[in-house]
Amino acid sequence: MHIIILGAGAGGGLPQWNCGCPNCAAARTGRLAPMSQSSLAVSADGQAWAILNASPDIRAQLAATSALHPTGLRDLPLRSVLVTNGDIDHVAGLLTLRESQRFDLLATPAIHAVLDANPVFSALNPDLVPRRPLAMDQPVELAPGLTATIFAVPGKVPLYLEGETVQTDLIGETTVGVELAANGRRALYIPGCADLPGWLADRIGGADLVLFDGTLWTDDEMIRAGLGTKTSRRMGHMPVSGPDGSLSRLTAPARRVYVHVNNSNPLCDPASPESAQVRAAGWQVGHDGMEITL
Ligand code: MLT
Ligand code: MN
Ligand code: ZN
Repeated sequence: MHIIILGAGAGGGLPQWNCGCPNCAAARTGRLAPMSQSSLAVSADGQAWAILNASPDIRAQLAATSALHPTGLRDLPLRSVLVTNGDIDHVAGLLTLRESQRFDLLATPAIHAVLDANPVFSALNPDLVPRRPLAMDQPVELAPGLTATIFAVPGKVPLYLEGETVQTDLIGETTVGVELAANGRRALYIPGCADLPGWLADRIGGADLVLFDGTLWTDDEMIRAGLGTKTSRRMGHMPVSGPDGSLSRLTAPARRVYVHVNNSNPLCDPASPESAQVRAAGWQVGHDGMEITL
């Protein structure tokens, strides 16, 4: 299985257009490598590819990724696009993919309903881009030799659909993880996850690789940095550090990679003590263009 991290950042990316935090400032001066927004490309054979999450940065991500370049006048090695939730950082890039190109668009019925309710997404001609509903725990083929099986993980509805009260550990169709299987290898992709119940840690531990929610280092990171008023859990993301964080609770599988890393996170800086701590615990921090072969 071939995996390319097209974007390792969370919504906003690094630098985020309106953010003057130390990491964003360092990315503007070139001291830190920039990160584009959350997306992955996967293939069983290196020939036909699927994209998981269509970020607003997808145009530049595709331009930077030769495996996904056209092979003819209108021939693209892209077979399907799967979205794991309806967040803007995961669906806005669909609008960039509108140039009469054939691919399958896969999501849960609840997320398809969000897209269907917004007429701007009809720019994707349904004759060319069929919208295939995904059912939990039912494997589907994303590309030849590559299957995906979705499963619900604790999360919430997209920010723009939040009502008066928000359940942040909702297990349903609005936030899913993806089990990717090819050539006898299994990788789990979970860019958003609010909590880690035992069954989920067990499922993750049995894979060959996990790409997991690395949005924030601490629960109160945005508040303490003066960047926002919400905790990490309120945003539907369990923090990396602390006794309930993913770093201490996910010790398997052997290959663990943080993705969807927010610009406020000290993991943006490979020289930070937090990055050293994560590496010492056996994790990697994803970066744009990172390639993994299983
Ligand atoms: C998230 O991952 O929490 C969302 O991308 C936030 C957002 O929509 O801005
Ligand atoms: Mn996001
Ligand atoms: Zn910032």
